[in-house]
Amino acid sequence: MAVILDGKRLSEKIRSELREEVEELKRKVGRPPKLVVVLVGNDPASEIYVRNKEKASQKVGIESVVKRLPEATTQEELNKVVSEINNDETVDGIIVQLPLPGGLSCREVVNYISPEKDVDGFHPVNVGKCTLGLYDEGLMPCTPAGVMKFFEEYGIELQGKNAVMVGHSNIVGKPLANMLLNANATVSVCHVYTEDLSSYTRRADILCVATGVPHLIKADMVKEGAVVIDIGISRVDGKIVGDVDFDAVKEKASAITPVPGGVGPMTVTMLLFNTVKAFKMRLGI
Ligand code: GUN
Repeated sequence: MAVILDGKRLSEKIRSELREEVEELKRKVGRPPKLVVVLVGNDPASEIYVRNKEKASQKVGIESVVKRLPEATTQEELNKVVSEINNDETVDGIIVQLPLPGGLSCREVVNYISPEKDVDGFHPVNVGKCTLGLYDEGLMPCTPAGVMKFFEEYGIELQGKNAVMVGHSNIVGKPLANMLLNANATVSVCHVYTEDLSSYTRRADILCVATGVPHLIKADMVKEGAVVIDIGISRVDGKIVGDVDFDAVKEKASAITPVPGGVGPMTVTMLLFNTVKAFKMRLGI
């Protein structure tokens, strides 16, 4: 039976450290860090995510503002709004909530955010720093950075291990694969076009999955004693489930993240972490 990697507990620990740090920074600087979340349209899931980010920010003392734009916003309008927020000296962190309504490009708008305020870590400059392992010099994407915190917290060795990343998205799979590689793991990246997926996953000492396919990973695809990180979240018959068949795989793995309560809370925690980091970097603290 696997150790359950508790994202709620780890999040609370990091958020409590951040709360103390923000308190001290507020005394020193005279204002708290400020995060602006741009939300275009009314995607119901995004509404919930944004509300969670707002509440979590307030709890650690970060000032949080949600800038709402209508569904019909054009790319030019979005770029202009983001550019104006970016030029506001009192703003430390900016994110544009994804997914954007059809026709709007995340790739395009991210270029209107300064790398120093890009608390999602999506700007090409931050992507480059992530690839190079220059974590202290930039802002790293929240979900992969949150996954790395689990390895740190639970003393999970990565060097020399076979790590398999299933999913090659720009926001999770690619950056997490790079972080594992920077930690000297031997990394394979699998994705929707990979043939014979289980021939890879069965060799993994560290198996990270971010596909959005509910219960893709079954027990017979997992090596005995593997560390399994589930970065998927789907709703099936009204129940939140991950990309891993948790009940079966937990009997085989040595450690596993649950869904919910695993990687999810860590993503928001790392957004708070990045907002405080951006604030300190901009002020040279
Ligand atoms: N939507 C789902 N995950 C994310 C994320 O990490 N950042 C942003 N901006 N939007 C998201």
